Amino acid sequence: MQISKASDAVGAIVENVDVTRLDDRQFAAIRQAFFDHGALFFRDQKLTPEAHIAFAERWGAIDFNRFFKQREGYPEIAEVLKEPDQQLNIGGGWHTDHSYDAAPAMGSILYALEIPPSGGDTLFASMAATYEALDDAMKERIKDLKARHGNAHVFGEESAYRKAVGERYTNADQAGQTAIHPVVLHHPDTGAKGLYVNPGFTLEIVDMEAEESQALLQELYAHIMQDRFHHRHVWREGDLAMWDNRATWHHALNDYHGHRRYLNRITIEGVELG
Ligand code: SIN
Repeated sequence: MQISKASDAVGAIVENVDVTRLDDRQFAAIRQAFFDHGALFFRDQKLTPEAHIAFAERWGAIDFNRFFKQREGYPEIAEVLKEPDQQLNIGGGWHTDHSYDAAPAMGSILYALEIPPSGGDTLFASMAATYEALDDAMKERIKDLKARHGNAHVFGEESAYRKAVGERYTNADQAGQTAIHPVVLHHPDTGAKGLYVNPGFTLEIVDMEAEESQALLQELYAHIMQDRFHHRHVWREGDLAMWDNRATWHHALNDYHGHRRYLNRITIEGVELG
């Protein structure tokens, strides 16, 4: 097994390994690499749904996603699907999964079953690298701030996006909860400081005027959206990618209209953030 950096900022590629046959020593090395790099990419995996679930369970309890359509017979598995006749994809903007939960999912494990002939790449960004690159004045300004996250605008009854995504999303009536998290989190496993706001689900900075809150969020987002903090994963069928939702953002590019893209995702339970 070899582990090498995927880019300077984020991610590592794990080669010559079958994730269904990891011994404890290999799994420990992979777990360490996950926390060191924020995301891992495995090529050429041959996973049944059962094997995908078994691999996920080595990381922790499964966090059942309540809004994505489930794979039939496997409530643990959320379908990430775009058909050739659909316009909107799932995850087609920068976000981190489940930040609207009080204890956001620690990680997501995405397995590629059908990939378009070109396009459909996923971008990843490092929240530790982006935090470290802030100037001291910004670090001081945001150090004690908290932000409110929510999901009604994405998954709720009134969401135009949900209506356009159609039956690929479910349980609109369960959307609407919000959660408050620090803007700068101390990573629960590594202690590293990282930014924890995202354009997908962060609604506002708590106890700040709306205009100032939006201006601050947009300034942080523009900083994070610089290419130097990113890795671009070009998918092949059989790829397994996994990322730490407390350490990264991701963005599924929607540039493959007329083709099918189908992946299976399992999320792992996390803890409350401090
Ligand atoms: C997601 O946001 O979980 C989907 C990512 C992808 O489809 O690449």
